[in-house]
Amino acid sequence: PGVLVLWLVVGYLLGSIPFGMLITRAMNLGDLRKVGSGNIGATNVLRTGSKGAAAATLLLDGGKAALAVMLARAMAGPDAAQLAGLAAFLGHCFPVWLRFRGGKGVATFLGLWLALAWPVGLACCAIWLLSAVVFRISSLAALIASASSVIFIGLFGPGNGIALALVTIALLYWRHRENIARLISGTESRIGQK
Ligand code: G3P
Repeated sequence: PGVLVLWLVVGYLLGSIPFGMLITRAMNLGDLRKVGSGNIGATNVLRTGSKGAAAATLLLDGGKAALAVMLARAMAGPDAAQLAGLAAFLGHCFPVWLRFRGGKGVATFLGLWLALAWPVGLACCAIWLLSAVVFRISSLAALIASASSVIFIGLFGPGNGIALALVTIALLYWRHRENIARLISGTESRIGQK
């Protein structure tokens, strides 16, 4: 159990690195908290006008979760990998550095599943892309893609990944509660809108 706690801590610390904040600050793109939704994720970084910064945020936020999973698996096995993925997701959503006000977990969700079970991760990325092309709304694509992971875990495994999926989907939905309210009222912003 001591080893598992270690991976919880490592995963949390990796996940808590707020790349969106760091990149927009380094590139002088203004205060991300005062842009668009105020979120620290790639979608909101895109609203600063920099596609490069948004792409970097997406890759690094996804990458930090994938790295946590891969490190834990290589050094401590599959159970540690799942815990590290969960911890990275929690670290991103509730980072101590931002007084626990972090992101919404979309990139980290995709990154952790790509590393944990790549067919599941890849299928979720494909559903996100497809939904984003059809609806042009990032949050809606995230809500659809994350929920679809349950189906893909059923198809491709791992069977013992379902608990992790349910917990992370629930948190992702909770973090999107303002987006969901805007989706219902028809006021959610579209990709490319400032
Ligand atoms: O990356 C989170 C996305 O699903 C929604 O972001 O900024 O539109 O609330 P945002």
